Amino acid sequence: MNRQTDQSHQLSTLARFALALAGAALLLGAGFFAAKHQIWPFGALGETPEKAPTTQADQSARDARAQLEEARKTLEKDPDSAFPEVPVGSDNHFVPPSDEKIPDGKMGEAIRRGRSVFVNTGTRAAEFVGNDLACANCHLGAGRRAGSAPLWGAWGVYPKYRGKNDMVNTMEDRLKGCFTYSMNARQSPSGGPPPDNHPIYKDLQSYMFWLADGAPVGQKLPGRSYPELKRSDQGFDYLRGQRVYRDNCAVCHGLDGQGHKDLNGRQIFPPLWGPGSYNWGAGMHRVPTAAAFIKANMPLGKRNYLSDQEAWDVAAFINSFPRPPDPRQVEEGLTVDETKAKYHDDKKGYYGHHLRDTHLGVAFDEIDWSAFQAQHALTLDDDRR
Ligand code: HEC
Ligand code: HEC
Repeated sequence: MNRQTDQSHQLSTLARFALALAGAALLLGAGFFAAKHQIWPFGALGETPEKAPTTQADQSARDARAQLEEARKTLEKDPDSAFPEVPVGSDNHFVPPSDEKIPDGKMGEAIRRGRSVFVNTGTRAAEFVGNDLACANCHLGAGRRAGSAPLWGAWGVYPKYRGKNDMVNTMEDRLKGCFTYSMNARQSPSGGPPPDNHPIYKDLQSYMFWLADGAPVGQKLPGRSYPELKRSDQGFDYLRGQRVYRDNCAVCHGLDGQGHKDLNGRQIFPPLWGPGSYNWGAGMHRVPTAAAFIKANMPLGKRNYLSDQEAWDVAAFINSFPRPPDPRQVEEGLTVDETKAKYHDDKKGYYGHHLRDTHLGVAFDEIDWSAFQAQHALTLDDDRR
């Protein structure tokens, strides 16, 4: 080993140490933040009802809900009184009811079960989950958070025509799609999403209906979906995204993108690619969708922290790795190239591309995954492309 590499080796050890320290500090910070805002992905906390709000914004939200309840009572007694207004907080976002208002009785039970499925999908809907994700991993705050495809924003815009399957989708159809693609149901114990009319759909819809209490039907609400990101002149580039990833994401999602599990094997930080992630048919595999999600929600607790260009590039980076196959490819018996022509001919992602000596879209039994991992995981001081 010559002197230069020797020196850079020493430096890199130091840098590694510093980054490890910074990483520990960030994790701790994220922990406090998440606990404070009730967004910790652990089941235990996810199950506890929200604490009483304290900030000014929370106060305005609480007032808005109180006014709604008051106006409803008045209207019931006096049909000529004013219609209740949509409860809106100081940020002009719809305010869903807080968890402590979940009613008693059968309806309340259904709402609670729906919430549980949404937050702890891998245990509460285990039969139909084929990866290491939960619904709430991509719909933050148990489906409440504006800018994170909140459930109250979705409820009132279904049934709806979707180009993806060229038909009018009921909410159940939509939820089935989430299991099929985002939760990779084909690899689940049952081999597919919950069958039609399954109680899981009733419970999830009960939770959604209840979260949307007081929201107008047919109205596209502010905060719905992910805030779309303007196209960039520079487009997106997964190679540029590597550095963004290493500096902003790897501390939680891992240098190998596989996230982290706790000692009980529960996923604390979800994987972003590989066999445990969303599949090639999921909305998140498309770079514009992932970029919009990331800009508004990641790094966790730091909204709009990345520049638009960084969000584009890091979205490209996480979506440039192997992930489970598009279920339509398997079901329709197509090759990856045929699937690309039929479903992915839109330049919005890397499906069907050849990157890192791998044909993106093929099943994992055609990839030596541990060898791939060993060869392509980043290291902290690595600028290799
Ligand atoms: C890997 C991330 C991910 C996971 C996991 C996930 N979703 Fe989604 N979901 C998305 C994306 C992306 C969209 C599309 C958002 C958009 O563009 O408006 C979406 C959309 C939705 C919508 C429609 C939203 C709207 O405003 O039209 C619903 C409802 C939904 N998801 C429910 C679920 C449920 C229930 C689960 C679990 C069974 C789930 N999602 C799991 C990423 C995810
Ligand atoms: C402080 C820890 C932390 C950091 C840093 C962080 N994330 Fe996340 N990320 C999370 C957690 C936790 C979730 C799941 C959120 C939940 O369940 O409430 C998540 C969810 C996601 C998801 C959706 C779920 C999935 O696995 O596909 C994506 C995509 C994502 N993060 C990308 C990124 C990117 C890109 C960065 C860097 C710009 C980043 N994250 C930085 C903690 C973090």
